[in-house]
Amino acid sequence: CVVAGMMVGKRVRNRRRWRRVVKVLEEFEEGSATPVEKLRQVVDAMAVEMHAGLASEGGSKLKMLLTFVQNLPNGSEKGIYYGLDLGGTNFRVLRVQLGGRRSAILGHDVQRQPIPEHLMTSTSEELFDFIAASLQDFVEKEGNGSEILQSKIRDLGFTFSFPVKQTSVASGILIKWTKGFSIPDMAGKDVSGCLNQAMARRGLDMRVTVLINDTVGTLALGHYHDEDTVAAVIIGTGTNACYLERSDAIIKCQGLLTTSGGMVVNMEWGNFWSSHLPRTSYDIELDSESPNPNDQGFEKMISGMYLGDIVRRVILKMSQESDVFGLASPKLSTPFILRTPLIAAMHEDDSPDLREVARILREILEIGNVPLKVRKLVVKVCDVVTRRAARLAAAGIVGILKKIGRDGSGGIASGKIWGGSQGKMKRTVVVVEGALYTSYTVFREYLNDAITDILGEDISSQVVLKVMEDGSGIGAALLAASYSASSQDTLQ
Ligand code: GLC
Repeated sequence: CVVAGMMVGKRVRNRRRWRRVVKVLEEFEEGSATPVEKLRQVVDAMAVEMHAGLASEGGSKLKMLLTFVQNLPNGSEKGIYYGLDLGGTNFRVLRVQLGGRRSAILGHDVQRQPIPEHLMTSTSEELFDFIAASLQDFVEKEGNGSEILQSKIRDLGFTFSFPVKQTSVASGILIKWTKGFSIPDMAGKDVSGCLNQAMARRGLDMRVTVLINDTVGTLALGHYHDEDTVAAVIIGTGTNACYLERSDAIIKCQGLLTTSGGMVVNMEWGNFWSSHLPRTSYDIELDSESPNPNDQGFEKMISGMYLGDIVRRVILKMSQESDVFGLASPKLSTPFILRTPLIAAMHEDDSPDLREVARILREILEIGNVPLKVRKLVVKVCDVVTRRAARLAAAGIVGILKKIGRDGSGGIASGKIWGGSQGKMKRTVVVVEGALYTSYTVFREYLNDAITDILGEDISSQVVLKVMEDGSGIGAALLAASYSASSQDTLQ
């Protein structure tokens, strides 16, 4: 009788702790919900903030930065150009040979290198010396007497994926660091100047012809392949977007722009904020413990740098509410230990016993012997975090389409969007780069589905989302080509 009583007591305790854990999940799910009505509010807020950011400097948390890129590659580019891509955990140097026709990339060589972690928080001289050394190493491998060495100074497109206040297409000043970089002495310095000086110290005959954001490089490559491309989005370590804007819509620099065409605007949408965003207590904690509180709010809900840490925080909360994860593991309290590729691996684990989930919990978080139903709970947390991120990114994309009149609402801004007699919306291409979209299938599907949910089948059938891998690197070389030659058409 006593034994039976103990067993009943144990069952009741088990049920109670399970209920507490499920409650954590339910509350999180509820707080993260993105029904289509909410997404439409985010779309509207994005379009409104875009207007505000274009109207005046500091008019919105969306910086809407001028890029001075008024010509996008159109196929006439010919010759050998270089790209340098810095902005995440790796950096890349590339050489691209262009054939003078659209999509005619005759050859391209890449050298990839991880950035030693200490350089991400060191001095600008150390960082740029390291980069220049790597460029030199790459260039030296071209060999003596090659056609390249006999040519004049090499043109380099420099992709620097942080917010920059451009002073020309080839120069600009860092506004602030994002994505874990922090090199305080860069403040107020010209980014291209730092690289040009480091290259000069090594006697390298290269010069920065264009200084661009990674979104801009991606847009350039997208446009080179397909002239219907109007916007580019990155969803990787960080997230951001750029698009083509008409000069007369960029109120804050009326009179400064030289052409009547357009200009690429770097939105820095990672810093977008709206009260309509579904924010949970986990987001608030992540933000307040980050090195840049109150900044990059949209990015912290969407990009690869943060998704894993949101999942970790929810699991930590579950483990505090009950002992379903066994004894408290100190690893679970370690920020950023659960990186987003691990979230993708757990989310996409299709083994019946969720073996991959068990392995990651054991090896990374040092939580062993987790029953299947708890592993399923972990997968559900990954799903909630990923779904919200993908759907918010989709709302951001539709926000851009709305701003430029390509959301099917009749065109609030750009005119001429309804082509032909059938009254159909013009084909509209948005190129996307970044591992979350290119390598995380569930994320990509959630994003694509959300675009259809928001726009409806008809309109969304005219919106093409294209993966544009290596855009930030090749695009930089393409723009170096566009801007080294002077005879280019301006944007329409
Ligand atoms: C961060 C940077 C932005 C970049 C994005 C994607 O948001 O601030 O400039 O484009 O990451 O790499």
